[in-house]
Amino acid sequence: MATRVIVQLPGKSDYTVRIGSGILSELGHDLRAIEGLANRTDVLLVTDTNVGPLYQAHVQEALTQAGFAVSSVEVPAGESTKSIEVASEMWSALAQLSFGRDCLVVALGGGVVGDLAGFVASTYMRGVPVVQVPTTLLAMVDSSVGGKTAVNLPEGKNLVGTFFQPAFVCADVDTLDTLPEREWRCGCAEVAKSAAIDSDDFFFWLCDHASLLAKRETATTVEAIKRCVVFKADVVARDETESAGVRECLNFGHTMGHAIETAAGFGTFSHGAAVAEGMRFACDLARESGSDTSIELVEAIGRLLDDLGLPVLPWRGDPQVLLDAMKHDKKNRKGEVRFVLLHDVGQWEVRPVPEEVLAAQLEQWSAAEPSQQASSEADR
Ligand SMILES: NC(=O)c1ccc[n+]([C@@H]2O[C@H](COP(=O)([O-])OP(=O)(O)OC[C@H]3O[C@@H](n4cnc5c(N)ncnc54)[C@H](O)[C@@H]3O)[C@@H](O)[C@H]2O)c1
Repeated sequence: MATRVIVQLPGKSDYTVRIGSGILSELGHDLRAIEGLANRTDVLLVTDTNVGPLYQAHVQEALTQAGFAVSSVEVPAGESTKSIEVASEMWSALAQLSFGRDCLVVALGGGVVGDLAGFVASTYMRGVPVVQVPTTLLAMVDSSVGGKTAVNLPEGKNLVGTFFQPAFVCADVDTLDTLPEREWRCGCAEVAKSAAIDSDDFFFWLCDHASLLAKRETATTVEAIKRCVVFKADVVARDETESAGVRECLNFGHTMGHAIETAAGFGTFSHGAAVAEGMRFACDLARESGSDTSIELVEAIGRLLDDLGLPVLPWRGDPQVLLDAMKHDKKNRKGEVRFVLLHDVGQWEVRPVPEEVLAAQLEQWSAAEPSQQASSEADR
């Protein structure tokens, strides 16, 4: 079972996102069929300490069989690996291997490995191709497509990076069998986000298939990834560098989500749980701040998140702390806190929300008692 989406960006080479079950073993063959990769030999395979023991040998074999000479680097799993220091170690590894501009970087892992390896590839010798082999649901539906690469600074996440599209993306859903539940739900939150911003067709399909996706049913998972990739490819085609006000829609739920992660302490709640709460908050905020968002839409999004295993967060923070976190978010412009607000499924706007409106909504959110059921199902 496999399908593919072609990503077409103005002025850039097209690339393929292949999605399916059992396709990892065909990776070398797939790469040989790509113009610009067909004659390459040297590959640096980058993975992390969780993913490496599970899938590195398999990928290495698939590449070797197709005539690639593979060297590998295993970086520590976790967000702290997305650093300039680790990137520098990888630049040195490439140089010590005497890899030239004709080499290829393959990123095998979640968004951390993808962002890091993409950044290294985009800068080594002014850019060598990168192939993304995402192994988390979040990376398959979001980070492996669209070309954002990054490392973090002590001052903030993703502050240094490039826009650099991959040459190919291979999303083998079999690798998701080993993904921890918490990470699965992070991906589900991004699927819900994409569906709500995209269209009635995607949103109502997801409402009908949410419990199957929560159970990781294969055909549903492949279809959800495909729909997300089609959606993201379209957004990126219209606004690759987030300068035309379109790509910002991907931040739906993230303004409040990031503030929750900061205020509760990073890692207290999963990114997905925080973003899900952020989407609920943004829906309420839209209604309170004069948008024509219907109560039916707010309830439908709430039910969808429940069905995906992303219940109301059993935590309420100090409104002032959350507001301060939002004001310091790097995505702000001129100190304004900007929100993606939904009018309806597929109809959104990004606009600054006046501080007094936001403060009032935060007070209301903070005073609301999360339900008993939500507390017991918390995704910590
Ligand atoms: N470039 C973009 O457009 C973009 C978009 C969204 C997020 N991101 C970035 O992505 C990162 C988050 O990505 P993520 O959620 O994939 O996190 P991650 O890469 O940290 O992976 C989550 C955890 O799952 C483990 N893991 C990965 N695949 C596994 C598998 N198949 N089986 C078992 N364990 C596995 C990892 O080792 C890690 O411990 C953040 O750094 C974020 O900034 C980038």
